[in-house]
Amino acid sequence: MKLFDVYPINDINIVRAKDSYVWDENGVQYLDMYGGHAVISIGHTHPHWVKRITEQLNQIAFYSNSIKIPIQQELAEKLGKISGKNNYQLFLCNSGAEANENALKLASFHSGRKKIIAFSKAFHGRTSLAVAATDNLAIIAPVNETDNVVFLPYNDEQALKEYFKKHGNDIAAVIIEAIQGVGGITVADEYFLQTIRKLCDEHNSLFIADEVQCGYGRTGKFFCLDHANVEADIYTMAKGMGNGFPVGGILIAPHIQPKHGMLGTTFGGNHLACAAALAVLEVIEKDDLIEKAGDHGQYVLNKLKEFDGLQNIRGRGLMIGFDVADELKDLRKHLLQKHMVFTGEAKPNVIRLLPSLSISLNQLDEFLARMVEAIEELSPHPLKGSFETVQ
Ligand SMILES: Cc1ncc(COP(=O)(O)O)c(C=O)c1O
Repeated sequence: MKLFDVYPINDINIVRAKDSYVWDENGVQYLDMYGGHAVISIGHTHPHWVKRITEQLNQIAFYSNSIKIPIQQELAEKLGKISGKNNYQLFLCNSGAEANENALKLASFHSGRKKIIAFSKAFHGRTSLAVAATDNLAIIAPVNETDNVVFLPYNDEQALKEYFKKHGNDIAAVIIEAIQGVGGITVADEYFLQTIRKLCDEHNSLFIADEVQCGYGRTGKFFCLDHANVEADIYTMAKGMGNGFPVGGILIAPHIQPKHGMLGTTFGGNHLACAAALAVLEVIEKDDLIEKAGDHGQYVLNKLKEFDGLQNIRGRGLMIGFDVADELKDLRKHLLQKHMVFTGEAKPNVIRLLPSLSISLNQLDEFLARMVEAIEELSPHPLKGSFETVQ
Protein backbone atom coordinates (compact mmCIF):
# COMPACT_ATOMS: atom_id res chain seq x y z
CA MET A 1 0.00 0.00 0.00
CA LYS A 2 1.20 3.54 -0.80
CA LEU A 3 1.12 6.42 1.68
CA PHE A 4 -1.32 9.19 0.78
CA ASP A 5 1.04 11.78 -0.65
CA VAL A 6 0.13 15.07 1.07
CA TYR A 7 3.53 16.39 2.16
CA PRO A 8 6.61 17.61 0.29
CA ILE A 9 9.24 15.48 2.01
CA ASN A 10 12.97 15.89 2.70
CA ASP A 11 14.86 12.72 1.85
CA ILE A 12 16.12 12.23 5.42
CA ASN A 13 15.30 9.38 7.81
CA ILE A 14 15.71 10.53 11.42
CA VAL A 15 16.17 7.52 13.68
CA ARG A 16 17.41 9.01 16.95
CA ALA A 17 17.03 12.27 18.88
CA LYS A 18 18.45 13.82 22.04
CA ASP A 19 17.93 17.33 23.40
CA SER A 20 18.36 19.69 20.41
CA TYR A 21 20.04 17.17 18.10
CA VAL A 22 18.68 14.47 15.82
CA TRP A 23 20.56 11.77 13.87
CA ASP A 24 19.77 10.11 10.56
CA GLU A 25 20.16 6.44 9.67
CA ASN A 26 23.77 7.06 8.59
CA GLY A 27 24.69 8.60 11.95
CA VAL A 28 24.76 12.18 10.59
CA GLN A 29 23.96 14.68 13.37
CA TYR A 30 21.62 17.63 12.78
CA LEU A 31 20.94 20.66 14.97
CA ASP A 32 17.20 21.05 15.44
CA MET A 33 16.19 24.72 15.23
CA TYR A 34 12.71 23.66 14.15
CA GLY A 35 11.63 21.50 17.09
CA GLY A 36 9.65 19.25 14.73
CA HIS A 37 7.44 22.28 14.08
CA ALA A 38 7.46 23.91 17.55
CA VAL A 39 6.53 20.64 19.22
CA ILE A 40 9.70 19.85 21.13
CA SER A 41 9.51 21.95 24.27
CA ILE A 42 11.82 20.28 26.83
CA GLY A 43 14.22 18.60 24.40
CA HIS A 44 13.99 15.35 22.44
CA THR A 45 13.75 12.18 24.55
CA HIS A 46 14.20 14.09 27.81
CA PRO A 47 15.02 11.42 30.49
CA HIS A 48 12.30 12.59 32.91
CA TRP A 49 9.70 12.47 30.12
CA VAL A 50 10.83 9.01 28.99
CA LYS A 51 10.75 7.76 32.61
CA ARG A 52 7.28 9.18 33.35
CA ILE A 53 5.79 7.76 30.15
CA THR A 54 7.47 4.38 30.66
CA GLU A 55 6.24 4.11 34.25
CA GLN A 56 2.72 5.05 33.17
CA LEU A 57 2.82 2.58 30.28
CA ASN A 58 3.61 -0.17 32.75
CA GLN A 59 0.61 0.81 34.88
CA ILE A 60 -2.17 1.69 32.44
CA ALA A 61 -2.03 3.53 29.10
CA PHE A 62 -5.70 4.15 28.44
CA TYR A 63 -9.18 3.86 29.77
CA SER A 64 -12.21 5.81 28.61
CA ASN A 65 -13.44 9.11 30.06
CA SER A 66 -16.35 7.24 31.64
CA ILE A 67 -14.25 6.64 34.77
CA LYS A 68 -12.29 8.81 37.19
CA ILE A 69 -8.81 9.59 35.85
CA PRO A 70 -6.99 11.33 38.73
CA ILE A 71 -3.91 12.10 36.64
CA GLN A 72 -6.12 14.52 34.63
CA GLN A 73 -6.75 16.49 37.82
CA GLU A 74 -3.05 16.38 38.65
CA LEU A 75 -2.31 17.84 35.20
CA ALA A 76 -5.01 20.51 35.62
CA GLU A 77 -3.49 21.62 38.92
CA LYS A 78 0.06 21.80 37.58
CA LEU A 79 -1.10 23.65 34.48
CA GLY A 80 -3.11 26.09 36.60
CA LYS A 81 -0.07 26.79 38.75
CA ILE A 82 2.46 27.27 35.94
CA SER A 83 0.16 29.21 33.61
CA GLY A 84 -1.21 31.35 36.44
CA LYS A 85 -4.75 30.43 35.34
CA ASN A 86 -5.72 28.46 38.45
CA ASN A 87 -9.36 29.45 38.22
CA TYR A 88 -9.78 28.22 34.62
CA GLN A 89 -11.19 24.79 33.64
CA LEU A 90 -9.33 22.26 31.49
CA PHE A 91 -10.69 20.15 28.64
CA LEU A 92 -8.21 17.72 27.10
CA CYS A 93 -8.04 16.58 23.48
CA ASN A 94 -5.38 15.36 21.06
CA SER A 95 -4.26 18.09 18.65
CA GLY A 96 -4.21 21.79 17.89
CA ALA A 97 -7.02 21.63 15.34
CA GLU A 98 -9.18 19.76 17.81
CA ALA A 99 -8.42 22.32 20.51
CA ASN A 100 -9.57 25.15 18.23
CA GLU A 101 -12.56 23.15 16.99
CA ASN A 102 -13.71 22.65 20.58
CA ALA A 103 -13.01 26.27 21.52
CA LEU A 104 -15.07 27.64 18.62
CA LYS A 105 -17.88 25.19 19.25
CA LEU A 106 -17.91 26.04 22.95
CA ALA A 107 -18.05 29.77 22.16
CA SER A 108 -21.07 29.16 19.96
CA PHE A 109 -22.82 26.99 22.60
CA HIS A 110 -22.08 29.58 25.26
CA SER A 111 -23.24 32.65 23.33
CA GLY A 112 -25.94 31.00 21.22
CA ARG A 113 -24.36 32.86 18.27
CA LYS A 114 -22.82 31.80 14.95
CA LYS A 115 -20.33 34.43 13.76
CA ILE A 116 -16.59 34.07 14.25
CA ILE A 117 -13.98 36.75 13.58
CA ALA A 118 -10.60 35.45 12.41
CA PHE A 119 -7.73 37.32 10.78
CA SER A 120 -5.85 37.49 7.52
CA LYS A 121 -3.12 34.81 7.25
CA ALA A 122 -4.50 32.93 10.28
CA PHE A 123 -3.86 29.20 10.62
CA HIS A 124 -6.03 27.32 13.11
CA GLY A 125 -5.92 23.72 11.83
CA ARG A 126 -7.59 21.35 9.40
CA THR A 127 -10.81 20.15 11.03
CA SER A 128 -14.01 21.70 9.75
CA LEU A 129 -14.46 24.86 11.87
CA ALA A 130 -10.73 25.31 12.49
CA VAL A 131 -10.04 25.23 8.76
CA ALA A 132 -12.99 27.51 8.05
CA ALA A 133 -11.24 30.03 10.34
CA THR A 134 -7.95 29.51 8.47
CA ASP A 135 -7.11 32.07 5.81
CA ASN A 136 -5.97 29.67 3.08
CA LEU A 137 -8.48 28.82 0.36
CA ALA A 138 -6.29 25.96 -0.84
CA ILE A 139 -6.99 23.89 2.26
CA ILE A 140 -10.70 24.69 2.68
CA ALA A 141 -12.83 21.94 1.09
CA PRO A 142 -16.22 22.97 -0.34
CA VAL A 143 -17.98 21.37 2.63
CA ASN A 144 -16.00 23.58 5.04
CA GLU A 145 -17.01 26.85 3.35
CA THR A 146 -19.18 29.00 5.58
CA ASP A 147 -20.39 32.58 5.89
CA ASN A 148 -20.11 32.26 9.65
CA VAL A 149 -16.42 33.14 9.63
CA VAL A 150 -15.27 36.58 8.62
CA PHE A 151 -11.60 37.51 8.09
CA LEU A 152 -10.44 40.97 9.12
CA PRO A 153 -6.96 42.41 8.56
CA TYR A 154 -4.51 41.45 11.35
CA ASN A 155 -3.54 44.36 13.61
CA ASP A 156 -6.17 46.65 12.05
CA GLU A 157 -7.97 48.14 15.01
CA GLN A 158 -10.25 50.34 12.93
CA ALA A 159 -11.58 47.44 10.82
CA LEU A 160 -12.28 45.47 13.99
CA LYS A 161 -14.12 48.34 15.66
CA GLU A 162 -16.23 48.95 12.58
CA TYR A 163 -17.17 45.28 12.27
CA PHE A 164 -18.17 45.09 15.93
CA LYS A 165 -20.19 48.27 15.58
CA LYS A 166 -22.28 46.74 12.80
CA HIS A 167 -22.44 43.09 13.83
CA GLY A 168 -21.34 43.01 17.48
CA ASN A 169 -24.41 41.20 18.75
CA ASP A 170 -23.94 38.29 16.33
CA ILE A 171 -20.33 37.56 17.20
CA ALA A 172 -19.71 34.38 19.18
CA ALA A 173 -15.92 34.73 19.28
CA VAL A 174 -12.77 36.36 18.01
CA ILE A 175 -9.93 33.88 17.46
CA ILE A 176 -6.35 35.08 17.11
CA GLU A 177 -2.74 33.89 17.30
CA ALA A 178 -0.84 36.52 19.34
CA ILE A 179 2.06 35.64 17.05
CA GLN A 180 1.04 34.09 13.75
CA GLY A 181 3.14 31.04 13.04
CA VAL A 182 2.23 29.54 9.67
CA GLY A 183 1.36 33.10 8.56
CA GLY A 184 5.06 33.98 8.81
CA ILE A 185 5.80 35.09 12.42
CA THR A 186 3.70 38.22 12.61
CA VAL A 187 3.46 39.68 16.10
CA ALA A 188 0.14 41.21 17.20
CA ASP A 189 0.32 44.74 18.60
CA GLU A 190 -0.42 44.69 22.30
CA TYR A 191 -2.92 47.48 21.82
CA PHE A 192 -4.74 45.44 19.17
CA LEU A 193 -5.07 42.50 21.59
CA GLN A 194 -6.33 44.84 24.31
CA THR A 195 -8.90 46.23 21.87
CA ILE A 196 -10.15 42.72 21.10
CA ARG A 197 -10.60 42.15 24.84
CA LYS A 198 -12.51 45.40 25.25
CA LEU A 199 -14.81 44.83 22.26
CA CYS A 200 -15.53 41.23 23.33
CA ASP A 201 -16.45 42.49 26.81
CA GLU A 202 -18.74 45.16 25.41
CA HIS A 203 -20.57 42.70 23.13
CA ASN A 204 -20.51 39.51 25.24
CA SER A 205 -18.35 37.74 22.66
CA LEU A 206 -15.57 35.34 23.65
CA PHE A 207 -11.87 35.97 23.10
CA ILE A 208 -10.11 32.77 21.96
CA ALA A 209 -6.31 32.86 22.06
CA ASP A 210 -4.87 30.20 19.75
CA GLU A 211 -1.68 29.43 21.67
CA VAL A 212 -1.06 26.14 19.85
CA GLN A 213 2.23 27.41 18.41
CA CYS A 214 3.07 30.62 20.30
CA GLY A 215 2.06 29.37 23.76
CA TYR A 216 3.39 27.00 26.40
CA GLY A 217 6.34 29.18 27.37
CA ARG A 218 7.84 29.64 23.91
CA THR A 219 7.81 33.45 23.98
CA GLY A 220 9.09 33.93 27.53
CA LYS A 221 5.64 33.94 29.19
CA PHE A 222 3.38 30.92 29.54
CA PHE A 223 0.88 32.35 27.07
CA CYS A 224 1.98 34.80 24.42
CA LEU A 225 -1.14 36.83 25.19
CA ASP A 226 0.28 37.46 28.69
CA HIS A 227 2.66 40.02 27.14
CA ALA A 228 -0.39 42.23 26.42
CA ASN A 229 -1.66 41.95 30.01
CA VAL A 230 -5.10 40.73 29.00
CA GLU A 231 -6.81 37.40 29.53
CA ALA A 232 -8.62 35.30 26.96
CA ASP A 233 -11.87 33.47 27.69
CA ILE A 234 -10.44 30.35 26.07
CA TYR A 235 -6.79 29.42 25.45
CA THR A 236 -6.03 26.60 23.02
CA MET A 237 -2.85 24.56 23.40
CA ALA A 238 -1.16 21.58 21.78
CA LYS A 239 2.28 21.54 20.19
CA GLY A 240 4.64 21.99 23.16
CA MET A 241 2.29 20.32 25.60
CA GLY A 242 3.47 16.73 25.18
CA ASN A 243 6.99 17.27 23.76
CA GLY A 244 5.97 15.07 20.84
CA PHE A 245 3.36 12.94 22.56
CA PRO A 246 0.04 13.95 20.91
CA VAL A 247 -1.94 15.96 23.44
CA GLY A 248 -3.95 19.16 23.21
CA GLY A 249 -6.27 21.07 25.45
CA ILE A 250 -8.27 24.19 26.10
CA LEU A 251 -8.34 26.37 29.20
CA ILE A 252 -11.80 27.75 29.80
CA ALA A 253 -12.60 30.82 31.91
CA PRO A 254 -14.70 30.25 35.04
CA HIS A 255 -17.71 32.19 33.71
CA ILE A 256 -18.27 29.55 30.99
CA GLN A 257 -20.43 26.76 32.40
CA PRO A 258 -20.06 23.17 31.25
CA LYS A 259 -22.99 20.90 30.36
CA HIS A 260 -22.80 17.16 29.93
CA GLY A 261 -22.48 16.20 26.29
CA MET A 262 -21.28 19.64 25.17
CA LEU A 263 -17.76 18.40 24.39
CA GLY A 264 -16.33 14.90 24.37
CA THR A 265 -13.53 12.67 23.11
CA THR A 266 -12.43 9.04 23.18
CA PHE A 267 -8.68 9.53 23.45
CA GLY A 268 -8.37 13.02 24.95
CA GLY A 269 -6.92 13.06 28.45
CA ASN A 270 -5.83 9.43 28.44
CA HIS A 271 -3.44 8.30 31.17
CA LEU A 272 -0.40 8.18 28.93
CA ALA A 273 -0.98 11.62 27.42
CA CYS A 274 -1.42 13.12 30.90
CA ALA A 275 1.83 11.51 32.09
CA ALA A 276 3.68 13.00 29.10
CA ALA A 277 2.10 16.44 29.67
CA LEU A 278 2.92 16.36 33.38
CA ALA A 279 6.54 15.44 32.68
CA VAL A 280 6.77 18.46 30.34
CA LEU A 281 5.41 20.87 32.96
CA GLU A 282 7.68 19.42 35.66
CA VAL A 283 10.76 20.01 33.51
CA ILE A 284 9.58 23.48 32.42
CA GLU A 285 9.20 24.41 36.09
CA LYS A 286 12.38 22.80 37.41
CA ASP A 287 14.65 24.15 34.66
CA ASP A 288 13.05 27.63 34.39
CA LEU A 289 12.49 27.02 30.70
CA ILE A 290 10.02 29.87 30.20
CA GLU A 291 12.46 32.50 31.41
CA LYS A 292 15.26 30.85 29.44
CA ALA A 293 13.16 30.86 26.25
CA GLY A 294 12.69 34.61 26.67
CA ASP A 295 16.38 35.34 27.33
CA HIS A 296 17.86 32.94 24.79
CA GLY A 297 15.41 34.09 22.15
CA GLN A 298 16.40 37.71 22.68
CA TYR A 299 20.06 36.70 22.43
CA VAL A 300 19.67 34.99 19.06
CA LEU A 301 17.33 37.71 17.75
CA ASN A 302 19.92 40.40 18.51
CA LYS A 303 22.71 38.37 16.88
CA LEU A 304 20.65 37.77 13.74
CA LYS A 305 20.26 41.53 13.34
CA GLU A 306 24.03 41.66 12.62
CA PHE A 307 23.63 39.54 9.48
CA ASP A 308 23.46 40.99 6.00
CA GLY A 309 20.84 39.52 3.70
CA LEU A 310 18.29 38.89 6.45
CA GLN A 311 15.39 41.30 6.71
CA ASN A 312 12.60 42.05 9.19
CA ILE A 313 14.02 39.94 11.99
CA ARG A 314 11.09 39.56 14.35
CA GLY A 315 9.43 37.45 16.99
CA ARG A 316 9.54 36.86 20.70
CA GLY A 317 11.48 34.37 22.76
CA LEU A 318 12.15 31.23 20.76
CA MET A 319 9.61 32.03 18.07
CA ILE A 320 11.64 33.95 15.54
CA GLY A 321 11.21 34.70 11.87
CA PHE A 322 13.11 36.62 9.23
CA ASP A 323 12.80 37.24 5.50
CA VAL A 324 15.67 36.23 3.28
CA ALA A 325 16.86 38.37 0.39
CA ASP A 326 16.44 36.92 -3.09
CA GLU A 327 20.12 35.98 -3.38
CA LEU A 328 19.69 33.83 -0.24
CA LYS A 329 16.48 32.14 -1.35
CA ASP A 330 18.11 28.71 -0.99
CA LEU A 331 19.36 29.41 2.55
CA ARG A 332 16.99 27.02 4.31
CA LYS A 333 17.79 24.13 1.96
CA HIS A 334 21.50 24.91 2.18
CA LEU A 335 21.39 25.01 5.99
CA LEU A 336 19.80 21.56 6.02
CA GLN A 337 21.78 19.83 3.29
CA LYS A 338 25.24 21.31 3.81
CA HIS A 339 25.25 22.54 7.42
CA MET A 340 22.93 19.98 9.00
CA VAL A 341 20.52 22.45 10.57
CA PHE A 342 16.74 22.01 10.56
CA THR A 343 14.74 25.26 10.37
CA GLY A 344 11.11 26.01 9.53
CA GLU A 345 9.71 28.07 6.69
CA ALA A 346 6.72 30.19 5.80
CA LYS A 347 5.87 31.09 2.24
CA PRO A 348 7.23 32.85 0.29
CA ASN A 349 10.64 33.69 1.80
CA VAL A 350 10.46 33.44 5.61
CA ILE A 351 12.67 31.23 7.76
CA ARG A 352 11.16 30.29 11.11
CA LEU A 353 13.11 29.28 14.20
CA LEU A 354 11.16 27.20 16.71
CA PRO A 355 13.75 25.23 18.69
CA SER A 356 13.26 23.45 21.99
CA LEU A 357 12.89 25.81 24.97
CA SER A 358 15.82 23.90 26.47
CA ILE A 359 18.30 24.88 23.75
CA SER A 360 21.54 26.20 25.25
CA LEU A 361 23.43 29.38 24.38
CA ASN A 362 26.27 27.23 23.04
CA GLN A 363 23.88 25.44 20.71
CA LEU A 364 22.49 28.78 19.56
CA ASP A 365 26.04 29.93 18.87
CA GLU A 366 26.58 26.76 16.89
CA PHE A 367 23.51 27.68 14.83
CA LEU A 368 24.75 31.26 14.31
CA ALA A 369 28.20 30.05 13.22
CA ARG A 370 26.61 27.70 10.68
CA MET A 371 24.43 30.57 9.46
CA VAL A 372 27.54 32.72 8.92
CA GLU A 373 29.11 30.01 6.79
CA ALA A 374 25.94 29.28 4.86
CA ILE A 375 25.32 32.94 4.07
CA GLU A 376 28.92 33.49 3.03
CA GLU A 377 28.71 30.54 0.68
CA LEU A 378 25.52 31.79 -0.92
CA SER A 379 26.14 35.52 -0.91
CA PRO A 380 28.77 37.67 -2.59
CA HIS A 381 28.50 40.26 0.24
CA PRO A 382 30.51 40.15 3.48
CA LEU A 383 28.65 40.05 6.81
CA LYS A 384 27.76 43.30 8.50
CA GLY A 385 29.63 44.06 11.74
CA SER A 386 31.48 41.56 13.90
CA PHE A 387 29.93 38.40 15.25
CA GLU A 388 30.96 37.33 18.72
CA THR A 389 29.61 34.29 20.48
CA VAL A 390 29.24 33.49 24.18
CA GLN A 391 31.78 30.68 23.99
C1 LIG B 1 -1.51 28.34 15.54
C2 LIG B 1 -1.89 26.94 15.18
N1 LIG B 1 -3.11 26.50 15.48
C3 LIG B 1 -3.50 25.24 15.21
C4 LIG B 1 -2.65 24.37 14.57
C5 LIG B 1 -3.11 22.96 14.26
O1 LIG B 1 -2.50 22.05 15.08
P1 LIG B 1 -2.50 20.49 14.73
O2 LIG B 1 -1.64 20.30 13.54
O3 LIG B 1 -1.97 19.83 15.98
O4 LIG B 1 -3.92 20.10 14.48
C6 LIG B 1 -1.36 24.77 14.22
C7 LIG B 1 -0.43 23.86 13.54
O5 LIG B 1 0.55 24.24 12.95
C8 LIG B 1 -0.97 26.10 14.54
O6 LIG B 1 0.25 26.56 14.23
